[in-house]
Formats: sequence, structure tokens, C-alpha cells
Amino acid sequence: MVGTSPRSTDPPLEIATTPKPARRKSYFTSTVGVKTLMAVTGLLFFIFLIFHLIGNLLLFVGPSELNGYSHWLIVNPFLVPAEIGLLAIFAIHVIEAISNYVQNRAARPVPYYQSTRRLFGRGWAGKPSRKSFASTSMILSGLITLVFVVVHIIQFKYGPNYPVTDPADGTPGVRDIYRLITHQFSSTWIMIFYVFCLTVIGIHLWHGLTSALNSLGVDSPRYTPVLLKAGRIISVIMAAAFLSLPLWVYFVWS
Ligand code: HEM
Repeated sequence: MVGTSPRSTDPPLEIATTPKPARRKSYFTSTVGVKTLMAVTGLLFFIFLIFHLIGNLLLFVGPSELNGYSHWLIVNPFLVPAEIGLLAIFAIHVIEAISNYVQNRAARPVPYYQSTRRLFGRGWAGKPSRKSFASTSMILSGLITLVFVVVHIIQFKYGPNYPVTDPADGTPGVRDIYRLITHQFSSTWIMIFYVFCLTVIGIHLWHGLTSALNSLGVDSPRYTPVLLKAGRIISVIMAAAFLSLPLWVYFVWS
């Protein structure tokens, strides 16, 4: 009689089970939600960067103007709520970016595009693909930006509090931000650190600006090429303007 009991070499029996209902993703953890959140927070932080840059360019105008602007910010009652908002925007952007990266890596360990060129071990596709060195290294440039922001805030916001002593440089008793910035950027290591990080931030913006607009639905054969160019031009201008500050202090001022 042929035995009916399973042998050890038999393939495992498939036990019919009711498939588990797929866990419904919330909008904010879905791919569209994550992309939208990253786009909105990225663009909001970019708006902060424009104002931050304009304020910092007062360095070229003079100590009393820069210190006066900084003092106006410090005593402004909206500063603390604005800082809390900025921190939330930045935190959401970073958390969403990291979780998006981890999810993508888990879903697709090997990139689906064929790299045709390589730089520092990173590949990117040729034309007509929109993949570039900037777009394939967003997580790296983002993490460098994160480190930069932490170091930068410790260095400037919580850095030495030089009070203004010369009335020609501003009202006595006001924080001397001009002295702080010029003192910091006179150091070779700090200047090199800033030149490196600000270049990386420019690379992040190079792809990030257009990508954010695409994620928000701005994508058409007519407008996308224009936006792509505009995003790149703006990122170069922003990076160059930020870079001019440490370079001017180090090579011209000191
Ligand atoms: C060379 C360029 C830069 C200079 C000279 C500069 C200068 C400063 C100074 C002086 C402060 C302290 C403000 C205060 O406490 O009154 C500050 C704060 C800050 N900076 Fe910059 N910054 C530069 C570039 C950047 C960049 C590229 C970023 C972002 C990627 C950034 C992000 C911030 C943030 C988030 C704060 C804290 C704002 C707050 O809490 O009020 N900065 N910066």
C-alpha cells in the first residue's frame, strides 16, 4: 500500500490561510504623501534661506546695519514661534527623507536605471533621463546639510555673545554678530568647512527645487524644462551668494 504520510523530501504542504488584509497606509506615509510633505517642507525651508541670505548680506554693508538687523530679530516677539515652526519644518523634511530612502532601498536594492557615467562611485543616467549626480546623491547631500545646520547653530546662535562696545558699530549692549561672523570666518578650517558645506547645499538645491515643484504637480512638457533651468540658476545664485560671505571675510576682510 502506498503511504500517505508526508516524507521528509516532500515539498512543504501549502496551508490555505486567509490573506491578511494589507495595512492601509495613511496619506503621510504613502509615497504621494511623503513626496508632498518633503516638497512643502523643502520649499518652506528654502524661503527661510532666502531671508537668511538677505540678512547675512548686510555683512557687506557694515557692522551697525548687520548688528541692528540681528538685534531686531532677537527682540522680535515672533522669533520664538518662527523658530519652533522652522525646527518642525526641518525635522519633518529630514525624517521623511530618511524613511523614504530606507523604504526605497528595501523595495529596490538595485537602481532601475542604467548608470552611464560615474562620479565618486555614484552613477547616473545619460540624457534624456533627468537623473543627475545631484539627484542620485540627495540623501548624502541632505545628511551633510543636517550636520552643517547643527554645527552652524551651535557656532552662531549659541556661540560667543560679544556685546557691542563701539557706538559706531551699533547701540551698546546689542549682540555683535558682525564680530562673531568675521572672527569665525577668519579661521582657515572654518572657512574650508563652510565652502564645502555651502557647495553641497547648492548641489542639494540644484535638484531639490525642481523636484519639489514636480512633486506638487508642476510637470508639463512646456513648463518643466523652464522650471528645471530656473531651479538650477537659483541654486547656483544662492550658493554663490552664501559662499561669498566666508570667502570675503577670509580673503578680503581679515
Ligand atoms: C555663510 C553663510 C551663513 C551665515 C554668515 C549665517 C549666519 C547665521 C547667524 C549669525 C545666525 C544666528 C542668528 C541669531 O542668533 O541672531 C544663524 C542662524 C541660523 N542659520 Fe545661518 N548663516 C549662514 C548660512 C546658513 C545656511 C546655508 C543655513 C541652512 C542650510 C543656515 C541655517 C541657519 C539656521 C536654521 C539658524 C537658526 C535660526 C534661528 O533659530 O533663529 N544658515 N546663521
